Order: sequence, then structure tokens, then C-alpha cells
Amino acid sequence: MIIAIDGPAGSGKSTVAQLVAQEMGFLMLNTGAMYRAVGVAVHEAGVSFDDEAACVAVAQSLDLDMDPEGRLLSRGHVVDADGLLGEGPGAWASKVALLPGVRTVLVAAQRRVGERWDLVTEGRDTTTVVFPDADFKFFVTASLAERARRRMAQTGFHKNLEALMIDIEKRDRQDEQREVAPLVRDPDAIEVLTDGLSIQRVVELILKVVQHGGPDRGASPQRSRSSPS
Ligand code: DC
Repeated sequence: MIIAIDGPAGSGKSTVAQLVAQEMGFLMLNTGAMYRAVGVAVHEAGVSFDDEAACVAVAQSLDLDMDPEGRLLSRGHVVDADGLLGEGPGAWASKVALLPGVRTVLVAAQRRVGERWDLVTEGRDTTTVVFPDADFKFFVTASLAERARRRMAQTGFHKNLEALMIDIEKRDRQDEQREVAPLVRDPDAIEVLTDGLSIQRVVELILKVVQHGGPDRGASPQRSRSSPS
């Protein structure tokens, strides 16, 4: 079974995906980590981010995969997850994510993982491009103000709320308007607006859909079509 969760930056989808995977006893595929691994490798190889063929060669050479414990593997070895965190890897990831050739390599790797395991996937295009036939699709989102408030709490209140909202809005626009794999909500995905909801509540709502085939009435998920079968 594949439960695919997409959404914008700062929506809380990674935490939610992790907890849903735990509850279901599934592995979690963090597709952003694959883009980060390629970004770091391209940077370390001293390859130009504009040289698509060279970036694709780096992506292929990593031979990304996942082990039965859900850890990212490169050439059969566990990738140090801490090395993928932070601003540098995030910025390099966003550059390689713009290259169609790199996306093709990573989408293929993600689908290979999906053929072997029950998964909760998380990213920008897992409901639309990677697993369009996923059993359940969710679009986890939050208002700009809510995401800015969360980011502010994470970063220790170093920036003012308005500046953060401007940053996030800019990143949303980039994600939604980029030519390659823009962030779009799949029409079949259930939208979960997480404003004012605890992570635990969001996880419960998603599990309710997965386990009982439909959201409970009066709660936040809005489905644009019929209930999942
Ligand atoms: O979710 P994240 O911050 O780890 O993602 C890192 C970068 O990779 C970010 O710029 C978005 C991009 N990305 C993508 O284009 N497609 C995905 N499925 C996952 C991430």
C-alpha cells in the first residue's frame, strides 16, 4: 500500500508522514532526502549545478535505495541523515530538483522502493508524478501565517513574523510556478488544513481515512472527489 503525502514547505508533512508510517507499521520514504543527497554529492564533486548531464551522472552514481529499516542507502551504504540537514544541503537540493534528468533518476529510484515496501511517502510530487496510483493521497497544508509562526518557533524567534511570511510566500511561488514538477495539489488528494490542529490530531484524521475509508464529518479534511475506496 502507498499513502502519499505532499504539501508546501513548513506544513508539517514530514512529521505527520513519520507518525502515520509508525502507526501503520510502514516505512517512510522522504523524497526530499534523495534530492538533498544528490545536492550534497554534486556540491562535493565540484560539479556545476547548471551542468545537467554531469548532475544526472552524479545522481545515477549514487544508486539511491532504502533499507528495510527505512534508512536511505547510497551504493548499499547507509547515508548519514544529519549530513543532509541544514541550509546548504537544502539550497543544493532545490537546485538539482530543477533538473528534469535528475528528477527522472530519483523518481525511478522512488518507484523501485515503492515496489518492495508498503510506504508512506512525503514530498512535493509523490501524489502527482511518483505514485499517481497511490492508495491514499493527502495534501497537508497550513496558512501562510501559521507556517510562519511555526518556523519562528523552530528558529528561536530570530526573525519577525512578517519577514518570515514574505520568505515563505516567495518559496511557495517558486515551488508552484517552477516549470519542472511544480507543487500542485492532485485533484484526488484529500486536503488537510492543519491550522490550529495538533500533529497528533492531523495523524488521527489521516489514519481515520486510511483505516475506515473516509474522513470523519465536521473535521478538517476536504476531499475534492469521492471517498477513497
Ligand atoms: O522537503 P525538503 O526540504 O527536504 O526538500 C528539499 C528540496 O527538494 C526542496 O527544494 C524541494 C525539493 N523536492 C522536490 O522538488 N521534490 C520532492 N519530491 C521532494 C523535494
